[in-house]
Amino acid sequence: MQKLDTIFTQHQQISPDVYPQPFPYIQNKYLINGELREWNGNFQDVHSPIFIKTDKGLDNFIGRYPMLGEKEAVEALDAAVNAYQHGNGEWPSMTVSQRIACMRKFVLKMTEQRTPIVNLLMWEIGKTQKDAEKEFDRTVDYINDTIEALKNLDRDCSRFTFSQNILAQIRRAPLGVVLCMGPFNYPLNETFTTLIPAILMGNCIIFKPPKKGVLLHAPLLQAFQESFPKGVVNTLYGDGEVIITPLMTSGKIDVFAFIGSSRVADIIKSEHPKLHRLKSVLGLEAKNPAIILKDADLESTVKECVSGALSFNGQRCTALKIIFVHESIVSQFLELINKEVENLQIGLPWEARTQITPLPEDGKATYLTGLIDDATEKGAKVINENGGKHYESLFFPAILYPVNKEMRVYHEEQFGPIIPIVSFKDIEEPLNYVVESKYGQQASIFGNDSKEIARLIDVLVNQVCRVNINSQCQRGPDDFPFTGRKDSAEATLSVSDALRVFSIRTLVAAKNNPANTNIIHKILKEDQSSFLNTDFIL
Ligand code: G3H
Repeated sequence: MQKLDTIFTQHQQISPDVYPQPFPYIQNKYLINGELREWNGNFQDVHSPIFIKTDKGLDNFIGRYPMLGEKEAVEALDAAVNAYQHGNGEWPSMTVSQRIACMRKFVLKMTEQRTPIVNLLMWEIGKTQKDAEKEFDRTVDYINDTIEALKNLDRDCSRFTFSQNILAQIRRAPLGVVLCMGPFNYPLNETFTTLIPAILMGNCIIFKPPKKGVLLHAPLLQAFQESFPKGVVNTLYGDGEVIITPLMTSGKIDVFAFIGSSRVADIIKSEHPKLHRLKSVLGLEAKNPAIILKDADLESTVKECVSGALSFNGQRCTALKIIFVHESIVSQFLELINKEVENLQIGLPWEARTQITPLPEDGKATYLTGLIDDATEKGAKVINENGGKHYESLFFPAILYPVNKEMRVYHEEQFGPIIPIVSFKDIEEPLNYVVESKYGQQASIFGNDSKEIARLIDVLVNQVCRVNINSQCQRGPDDFPFTGRKDSAEATLSVSDALRVFSIRTLVAAKNNPANTNIIHKILKEDQSSFLNTDFIL
């Protein structure tokens, strides 16, 4: 392992190509009601997980963004409410084809901003260049796939249904004003997996970026402004208590789309005066286990577990956060995983071989060290030589063994580079862990005996929402349903599910008699309604 205090470097050693431009990046604009307004109030300094060595010591100031207040929050809300206009605004009244045309314009403009966004992803949250590029490209693909899914959905709705002498046209209609809040680990992708389908379905949105990963949205403000009618997309930056509370307490938010912790989700939800009116779309914590059976192919299993536990330093809700290994193979497993982890390259995001990068959350190294100290006091050991070594935001991954239920790391979602390993004799031990866990997102089984795997599948599918065989947990491909049970999620997201989540089935129905069919014929023939029509999108 490279000595941690030699990783951060001087300004001159860093290629200008990977810097945000300008540097520091001062964002002084925000988008409300179709206007890119200039901000003259207080700003929040942005500190990067990446430090630069200077004559005066380490420096990590990379920019600032506006700290908007309650007044701007209310203006954003009014803009979205007016744009929606009880469903009669320009945007919700548009045909699906017209909305798709606006989204296509947006995605073209977004593509032009790839480099600035990728660079800001590296500097704001420490994602490797390769993963930052993947996040951007995956998001563009997600938008294009969502457009195609909406076309299909609309085609299915472009005909009439007859039942019990009633004819009807059933479509999906928007829900109203949507508040979208994404997480720091996928600030672009996960925010857009709710924001894009919400917009496409005809809703008007207010969007607040996560605390870390704010500036990277600035290059898109103009694209939003130029692609959608005023008030359809509004952005807010600042302290949640100041800007989110007035939105929720107004009772005018119809959908709350949030990816983050259940603690924060519960606080925000509870501020809404009419909970039954609020639809929530939540992606929350998880503690996905890997269960390694005695006949697993150890080499490939170890590789998959390391990647599952440590991609983006373990800062993924889908990461493998605890590993149960059958006692008969545990020493072999430990030997192999030790080697694999010690070979990981810790470094700066743009360096080609880097796998582990600086952590963006304040105080994260202290939190992780606390988990390690607690576990070692209760009998676990850090198996790998460099495990838990840290310097500023750099933290080398630690393998902890043997972990048991007395330790915090057995229960808490570490969301960082720690791999807790538990050895088991009886398969009921990991299964009980899953049943007793607060979370229920995914699990991975590694083994070769189809009979044993089949039995585990049948138990686990009623505890979590995705069971992975000989592969790590993950969200993708994005057309697969992504959800969780218990404290892990509310609602299901995927390219097509998200379109359903942000809309409601609505129909126009009439008794099938000559008078009614005449009216309907006339509406269709003269193209009098956006909703009631049989246009087929090509
Ligand atoms: O943080 C949770 C993300 O949804 C994980 O997505 O499995 O594609 O990394 P991923």
